[in-house]
Amino acid sequence: MWWQDAVVYQVYPRSFQDSDGDGVGDLPGIEQRLDHLAWLGVDALWLSPVYPSPMHDFGYDVADYEGIDPLFGSLEDFDSLVAAARERGLRVLMDLVPCHSSIEHPWFREHPDWYIWRAEPNNWLSAFGGSAWSPLDGRWYLHSFYPEQPDLDWRNPEVVGAMQEALRFWIDRGVAGYRVDAIDRLLKDPELRDDPPSTGEPFGLPLSDAEKRLALTRSRNAPDTGAALAKMREAVDDHLLVGEVYLPSARWQPYLQHLDAAFAFELLHADWDAAVLRRAIEATTRRPGAAWVLSNHDFGRLVTRFGAENARSAALMLLTLPGPAFLYQGDEIGLGDGPGGERQFDRAGRDRFRHPMQWDASPAGGFTTGEPWLPAVDAERINVEAQRDDPRSTLSMVRDLLTLRRVLGNELELIDAAPGVLSYRRGEHAVAINTSSGKRPAPLDGDVVLETSPGALRGRELAAHSGAVTMGLRGSPKG
Ligand code: GLC
Repeated sequence: MWWQDAVVYQVYPRSFQDSDGDGVGDLPGIEQRLDHLAWLGVDALWLSPVYPSPMHDFGYDVADYEGIDPLFGSLEDFDSLVAAARERGLRVLMDLVPCHSSIEHPWFREHPDWYIWRAEPNNWLSAFGGSAWSPLDGRWYLHSFYPEQPDLDWRNPEVVGAMQEALRFWIDRGVAGYRVDAIDRLLKDPELRDDPPSTGEPFGLPLSDAEKRLALTRSRNAPDTGAALAKMREAVDDHLLVGEVYLPSARWQPYLQHLDAAFAFELLHADWDAAVLRRAIEATTRRPGAAWVLSNHDFGRLVTRFGAENARSAALMLLTLPGPAFLYQGDEIGLGDGPGGERQFDRAGRDRFRHPMQWDASPAGGFTTGEPWLPAVDAERINVEAQRDDPRSTLSMVRDLLTLRRVLGNELELIDAAPGVLSYRRGEHAVAINTSSGKRPAPLDGDVVLETSPGALRGRELAAHSGAVTMGLRGSPKG
């Protein structure tokens, strides 16, 4: 299976490369930049949604599951991108948004029974805060996210049929699979009963204060979810399905009976502390199926999430764990989150995670010849061109990591190490990461094959905030 150890590069199409000067990225722009991805050595790219959309949630509100928004181009542009990717040995993954459509999807008018209605709201909460219900024509419709995203009823066979058709549509156009959006919200309690009050047992992943007061047992993750997932599987055969399952890994069934992998949110949300990271890795690798991700368009980039001093170590960890890894555009050059723009586009405040990719030192970073929808972040210093030929750059390190990961063994063995040091072995290779702000002994032996900065590993000692990979480990002496 090609994806088992694949690195999937997340393209946020709005912010990757603009080809027509309107300040917003597009499909021909992505095609122009494919050589960067091939040079970097990733296996696939995942496109955040490019479907026609009123863009209340930048494409996660889909108004036609079988089209391309004119802002991004046309179906011909899409076909051309897939073909150009294939020529470079790159696969393309689409983003499937099955839980809700856009309120402007014709289905909402033509098939109101495809959606979820109630005479009065219950206590379910929207992921973005407030009630998950909005009034319309004397009754209330469910929206687990923005009010412009009404939830589809997956217990209606017509909905399932329409989604299966959409899934096949893109497979027939050559995509290798899907990242499946917000899948834990696919099915809810059929009687739409209130979420009971929290029992005090922690959910296992960050929640809002209002969500923490509830047990969240009925607004999501219903027992018959597996049946719906089986229908998705049926439509895509053995193409890849990676689920955005916002549940701790202990609750990944039934998702993993039907999907190939689930994003490991426990690790994404872990503090940058060796002991915490180790616990998250242990929990998540207890069963197969983890897809690693540490950054994305919802939570921000490595530099800001873990601190500039730890961003390279975070990339090292992301790319040396066994299983598929998802790398968010910009992380390969150490791009940080931006200040947002003058006006806020995303009501949930996520603009700052979505600043355009930076290709060169020009004011808009080579992203556009026009006015970028969000400004560049220090493009003069942080850009692909400046880092490409510098062997000490973040970009060079990430590229080296992508080469190195091809020769890592399959297994993962966590190694005991000094406090502040996360260490594990992958066959012949061993990895150690010092998350602390002091030097630490590292349980590494053999030859250094990669360091987060030159001289990070001196003898048996790792510099503060650094990491290294060695080969030919002899023992595993306690640090
Ligand atoms: C997922 C997406 C996020 C979107 C939400 C609703 O979490 O990653 O960007 O807002 O689903 O579709």
